[in-house]
Amino acid sequence: MVPLAERYRDRLPLTGATPIVSLGEGATPLLPAPRLSERIGVEVWLKWEGANPTGSFKDRGMTVAVSKALEEGARAVVCASTGNTAASAAAYAARAGIPAVILQPAGAVALGKVAQARAVGARLLEVRGSFEEALAAARELARRGTHALVNSLNPHRLEGQKTAAFEIVEELGAAPDVLALPYGGGGNTRAYSVGFEEAGAGVPRIQAGEAAGRAATVATAIRIAEPAHRAEAEEAVARSGGAVVSLMDEEILAAWRELAGLEGVFCEPASAAGVAAIAKLPPERGARVVCVVTGHGLKDPEAAARLAEAPVSVAAELDAIAEAAA
Ligand code: F0G
Repeated sequence: MVPLAERYRDRLPLTGATPIVSLGEGATPLLPAPRLSERIGVEVWLKWEGANPTGSFKDRGMTVAVSKALEEGARAVVCASTGNTAASAAAYAARAGIPAVILQPAGAVALGKVAQARAVGARLLEVRGSFEEALAAARELARRGTHALVNSLNPHRLEGQKTAAFEIVEELGAAPDVLALPYGGGGNTRAYSVGFEEAGAGVPRIQAGEAAGRAATVATAIRIAEPAHRAEAEEAVARSGGAVVSLMDEEILAAWRELAGLEGVFCEPASAAGVAAIAKLPPERGARVVCVVTGHGLKDPEAAARLAEAPVSVAAELDAIAEAAA
């Protein structure tokens, strides 16, 4: 497969001297969602970003950020993360042959993400504090010059992430009427807005689903009290004619169940916030809507264990099995 950085080279901040660090990111499926479409009364498409190499959209930005960090001579990378940025940074750093330092809020990161970062040998620090405190520390380490920051405050991250909008326009032949996605720190909202602008096909109305609880939500990926990109993200949403939609945990989980049960798409809870946003504030009938499903369900197996039907224990006897299967 052609790495995203090669495919969109002319629209990314890359030079002939940039060593491309790739794990095969991008070119993710855009899935029609007929049953969700019928339920909500709009034409729903799912941009399935869980299909990226580490299971989230972060890989689009990380390939560019780590490639540029190498080009600029960085000897290590650092990020603060609710888990997906961590898993991605850790994997791309391993691929590049440099160490990754991860600062994560203690006790607030889903199991699968921690496993990913550990498996590839990242140095994982569990900060006894909030995501904001971890991010402040990561920025300071980067300022001291020992580590390259690969949070979305690194502009190369958003450059990579904007390519998802290019893929959507290429595949649909036009921008959709509405783009719906989860809103945590706001970097991805901003990246899509830039991407659609650069694709030259017009910017869809952006419906950004945020957790009403922000600092306390079941959607751990977006457990962020103070979005680092709030100003640009909310400006982009307003300019698009869209809205920030504030979601209760039950609304996010209802969308999570529908994505899985109606369409077979198993994502982590935060990733259902785009679908939840259109279920709560439905666009006009028949509108074409792309919902970005940002991360894979295997990231957060404990959520599935808590929220979905438990397995049934049965004796290894055909009669008992047939009865239980009915
Ligand atoms: N969906 C998932 C699965 C995420 O991991 C994140 C952010 C978002 C949505 C929100 O994107 O911050 O650009 O608005 N995760 C970050 C992390 C904070 O550390 O992995 P955003």
